[in-house]
Amino acid sequence: MLQQFPPMGVYETLFKFADATAKYMGDPGTHPWAQGYPLTTQLPGGPALPENISLKSTDLKYPKATGELELRERIAAYYNDHYNAGISPDHVAVFGGGRPGILATLAFLEADVGVAVEETEYTPYYDMLKILNRNVHLIPSNTENRFRPDASDYDISPPGQTERLFLVKSNPCNPTGVMTGGDALKGLVEKFSQPGHGALFDEAYEFYCDPEPESALKYIDDIDNTDIFVVGAATKGLQVPGMRTGWVIAAERHIEIFRNYSSFGMGGISRPSQLYVADLLEPARVSQAKNAVNQFFTSQRNRYASGLKELGFELFTGTGGFYHWGRLPGELSADDFNGRLFEHEAGILPGVLCDMARRTGESGPMHRFIRFSFGPLSADSYDNDMEIMSKCV
Ligand SMILES: Cc1ncc(COP(=O)(O)O)c(C=O)c1O
Repeated sequence: MLQQFPPMGVYETLFKFADATAKYMGDPGTHPWAQGYPLTTQLPGGPALPENISLKSTDLKYPKATGELELRERIAAYYNDHYNAGISPDHVAVFGGGRPGILATLAFLEADVGVAVEETEYTPYYDMLKILNRNVHLIPSNTENRFRPDASDYDISPPGQTERLFLVKSNPCNPTGVMTGGDALKGLVEKFSQPGHGALFDEAYEFYCDPEPESALKYIDDIDNTDIFVVGAATKGLQVPGMRTGWVIAAERHIEIFRNYSSFGMGGISRPSQLYVADLLEPARVSQAKNAVNQFFTSQRNRYASGLKELGFELFTGTGGFYHWGRLPGELSADDFNGRLFEHEAGILPGVLCDMARRTGESGPMHRFIRFSFGPLSADSYDNDMEIMSKCV
């Protein structure tokens, strides 16, 4: 009775890896270059990650539908301190990670709203838009524009029979690492604050950005007058994917819809997780964490860029995120490359899984593209990583 639906692309690769190696990618000894999680250990110059959390019996009650006040206060304070966002806890809804917040937003879009998404984007957007049956316009993001759409690419009419337009954009972009900041971001916020327009800025990788992280909230004057949604998560920046905590910042009237949704469909998010994440957002701690994440991963991005280029990869990576996005040397396809890597208990994400048009097969434009993740890699794994890569290209 259930509609068939395949796993999200990253998991597809993880399952193939498990079949080939009898291991889970990320187990000790494996090289999890397809994985989208960060190191969950203390970074050089960064704060420690707490090992304990103490709970009273009252902490075991049902949590609040839109998130616990302690956490929503910390999230609002974070954006106000760092980006002068002018928001209150009433503009924050907490979800079990970034993806559930994105899915909830898309699920409640009205029927006359079409979606604009870049051609090369975060894998699950494809699944979400498909299962929700949305009318989609693809914004060019390919080798021709080096995966860097310009301002005019976002001047779009609503697709198909739709009348209004909603942009969904990861920034920095997963997989390309391209970051839209400064005047370009300001321009996008202005464009999608116009009547008949809305946008979701997915800032899961906000902290991972050279030289400086940025949020769309910096450019939103009064979020209550917009249909703009800014998504954040503890998953990457705060290095705790296992806490399953993410949030959406939006107009109060939209947060009310999320509250109603939570009341019938979610029942809130684990209070222990929320308390843990609230501690991570203590103002001095989060500033320290933000700097440490940025510094460590910027140096890793640069290091792996030189190594991959030396091996003949053509890189298109921007200045954010923890991935390299590039084309394999020679004629090798990403799938064949993975076949070779699996023998070394390593694996990358084939680029086709980030193609919002999912053009599979040899003629597809992403056939030889890969997303290489350096998020989970400790600083001392570099030489070994490059040795395996070099054997497999
Ligand atoms: C672009 C982007 N958005 C959101 C997320 C949120 O992930 P989660 O649902 O694990 O918090 C991720 C994680 O991979 C991501 O890459």
